[in-house]
Amino acid sequence: MTATPLYCAEPARIDAARRLAERFDLLLIRQRPATGYWLELGPERLELVTTGKHGAVYAEFVEGAARHRREQGGGRGQPVAKAVGLKGAKDLPSVVDATAGLGRDSFVLATLGCRVTMVERSPAAAALLADALERALRDDATRDIAARMTLVHASSIAWLGSLAEAERPDVVFVDPMFPDTDKKSAAAKKDMQAFQHVIGDDMDSSELLTAAIAAAKVRVVVKRPRLGAAIAGVKPSAVLDGKSTRFDLYVIKALASG
Ligand SMILES: C[S@@+](CC[C@H](N)C(=O)[O-])C[C@H]1O[C@@H](n2cnc3c(N)ncnc32)[C@H](O)[C@@H]1O
Repeated sequence: MTATPLYCAEPARIDAARRLAERFDLLLIRQRPATGYWLELGPERLELVTTGKHGAVYAEFVEGAARHRREQGGGRGQPVAKAVGLKGAKDLPSVVDATAGLGRDSFVLATLGCRVTMVERSPAAAALLADALERALRDDATRDIAARMTLVHASSIAWLGSLAEAERPDVVFVDPMFPDTDKKSAAAKKDMQAFQHVIGDDMDSSELLTAAIAAAKVRVVVKRPRLGAAIAGVKPSAVLDGKSTRFDLYVIKALASG
């Protein structure tokens, strides 16, 4: 993947742009590019933009779909909550979201009370997440939820492997970008094409699954399109079907005794 540069469209925010560039190793450019994809810091937020016809892509925890999920979300009965093991749980599990993306799944789990560590290897996606987290920490309605979310910019395969015993999470959540069926479903959402273009496919999901199983204390949850292929390698110990999404569960105890 080619690196995604950062352009600051709001002179008053140049210091914030410099901090983002330094933290995520982004090239800070002085002119808005004429072609391609770039990150643009405006007065409100950081966005991934392009000269093409796609709309801007950004991570969002305060408004829009995030507000809807926060206010009308399905609670612990919704499929993702069940998959992570929240239904009827006395203690909420600690979760590592090993493929944080735009943080939507992390946000749902943090809204339900989980502490979530979001790990994201793409500098562009990680920068979008950092910006959304900062905005969510400033808003009264989302401050407490955002405080339960921590961002780590790293490859999860290496990062999960580096955890000390006491740091191991209960649950590792994995939602990779597959080269097969995902393309078609992602193409339906025009805005997401820009994200997909910048991030590319995740070709190392099997290694990630192995690292996730070694790190999780209780279970690994893999999110897939309902009819998508499972990650190659270890077989899931259970499958939870949803309307358009499926969750493959790798229960550590079951794997150890099988
Ligand atoms: C399909 S998106 C995840 C979407 C996310 N679940 C959400 O709710 O927004 C996959 C993301 O995982 C990231 N990713 C894939 N493999 C990774 C790895 N080994 N370590 C860190 N990030 C990874 C990609 O860069 C991409 O941003």
